[in-house]
Amino acid sequence: MAERKLFKTVGVLGLGHVGLPTAVGFAELGWQVVGTDSDSAKVSLIADGHCPFYEPDLEPLLRKNLAEGRLKVTCDVGEAVRESDILFVCVGTPQKPDGSPDLSQVEAVIRTVAENLNGYKLIVEKSTVPVQTAQWIKRTILRYAGSGTEFDVASNPEFLREGTAVHDFFYPDRIVIGVESERARNWLLELYKPLNAPIVVTDVNTAEIIKHAANSFLALKISFINMISDLCEAVGADVTEVARGIGLDPRIGPQFLQAGIGYGGYCLPKDLKAFIHIAEEHRVDFSLLKEVERVNEARIDRFVRKVQQALWVLKEKTIAIWGLAFKPNTDDIREAPSLKVISRLLDEGAKLRLYDPAAMNNVRQVFPENPPSLVYCKSAIEAATNAHAILIVTEWEEFRKIDWAKVKQVIALPIVVDGRNCLDPKTVREAGFEYYGMGRK
Ligand SMILES: NC(=O)c1ccc[n+]([C@@H]2O[C@H](COP(=O)([O-])OP(=O)(O)OC[C@H]3O[C@@H](n4cnc5c(N)ncnc54)[C@H](O)[C@@H]3O)[C@@H](O)[C@H]2O)c1
Repeated sequence: MAERKLFKTVGVLGLGHVGLPTAVGFAELGWQVVGTDSDSAKVSLIADGHCPFYEPDLEPLLRKNLAEGRLKVTCDVGEAVRESDILFVCVGTPQKPDGSPDLSQVEAVIRTVAENLNGYKLIVEKSTVPVQTAQWIKRTILRYAGSGTEFDVASNPEFLREGTAVHDFFYPDRIVIGVESERARNWLLELYKPLNAPIVVTDVNTAEIIKHAANSFLALKISFINMISDLCEAVGADVTEVARGIGLDPRIGPQFLQAGIGYGGYCLPKDLKAFIHIAEEHRVDFSLLKEVERVNEARIDRFVRKVQQALWVLKEKTIAIWGLAFKPNTDDIREAPSLKVISRLLDEGAKLRLYDPAAMNNVRQVFPENPPSLVYCKSAIEAATNAHAILIVTEWEEFRKIDWAKVKQVIALPIVVDGRNCLDPKTVREAGFEYYGMGRK
C-alpha cells in the first residue's frame, strides 16, 4: 500500500466521546492505531473491549479492531506519542466560569508530546479549540522540546454527533483540514482517502474558525425556531408547520428547526460561549450570539411555566420525567436541560419519578435517589405510575412508540407536557390525555 510509505501509526490522545470513535474508525479503515488516555480506569475498560459510555455500534467495532490487532490502547501517553507518526489531540476543552475555554488538558498533552518527540510528528487538533491555538501548540512544543525538532501542527475539527458517532465517522458530510505544509496536507489526505468524503483543505486559523462557526450557527437555528415557537403560541399558530414550511427551502434546510426546551450537551453551549469570548478578545461585536444564548437559557423557564399552566401548583405533585440525556442515543448529561428542569421542579416541591433508557446512572451522581422526592424508575410506564403529569425532556424513540392506553391505566392525571414536540398530539389526545407542546396547538 502506497500510504504505508508516508506514515505507519496513528496515535489518538484522549479516548472520550470523540477520541474513541476516531481511534476505532481509523483502525477499521485499516490503519495501525495506538489510543491513549490519562484515565487509566477508562483505558482498562477499553482494553477489555468495553466502551466506557453509551454509543450505539461502537463496542462491537472496538472489539473487532482490538482482536485483529489494528488497535492498541495504553495508559502511557508518552509511549503512544513515541510509537505514532500522526497524533490526534482529542482531549477535553471544557469552559471556565467566565465562558472562555479551559485549554489545560490541551497544554498538558502537548507537553507530553514535546517530551516524547523521537522524530517528525504531525500533531492534529481534533478537540474544539479557539482560533490561534495551533500557534500556542507550536510555541509550547518548541519551549519544551527545544529547537531542531521536526513537527507540523494541523487542525482537523470534529463534527461527529454523539449517538451517531460511528456512522458520522464513516460517512462525514465533510472533512476539514487546516494545514501549513505540503507534508501535513498529503498525510491527512492519504489518511482520509478511504472515506471518499468531500474535503475542505484550508489554513489552520480558518479550520479552527470553521468548527466554532458551525456550532454557533446550529445554536442560532435552534434559538431562532424557539422564538418562532413562542410567537406561534401567542397567536395560535403551529411551529412544527412553520418549520416544515421554511425548512423545505434548501437555503434554510429542515434540520435543527425543532422547537422545544433548547440545546444542551458538551458542545453547543460551551462552543458558543467560547466563540463569543474569542470575538470579544478581537474586538468584534458578535452580540447576535449573546442573544442566541439568552434565548436558550430562557427555555427552561418557559418549560417550567408550561408545566405550571398544566398543573397549577407543583408542590406535592408527582411528576414523571421521561428522558434525561442531553439528546437521544447517548448517556451524556453534560449541560443537559433535564438537570435544570429537575432542580427547578424540586425547588417547587414536586415529587419526581425519573426514567431514561441510558443516562440514569450518570444523573444519579448529580441527584442521588431520595424517595419520595426523587425516584429512579426502570421503565417509562413505571415512572408514569401515579404521576400527575409526564414531561418529555429527551425525545427517545421509545416514547414516540409508547402504548398510551397502558400509560392511561397507571397515571393519576392524564397530562403530557412535550418539551421536545416529539409526540403526535392527536394520538395522545385521542388516548384521553391533555397534551401541551411547545408552540403548537
Ligand atoms: N462530544 C462531542 O460530541 C464532540 C463533537 C465534536 C467535537 N468535540 C470536541 O472534542 C473534544 C473532546 O470532547 P469529548 O466529548 O470526547 O470529551 P471527553 O471528556 O469525553 O474526552 C476527553 C478525554 O481526554 C482525556 N484526557 C484529558 N487530559 C488528557 C491528557 N493529558 N492525556 C491523555 N488524555 C487526556 C480524558 O481523560 C477524557 O477521556 C472537545 O474539545 C470537544 O469540544 C466533542
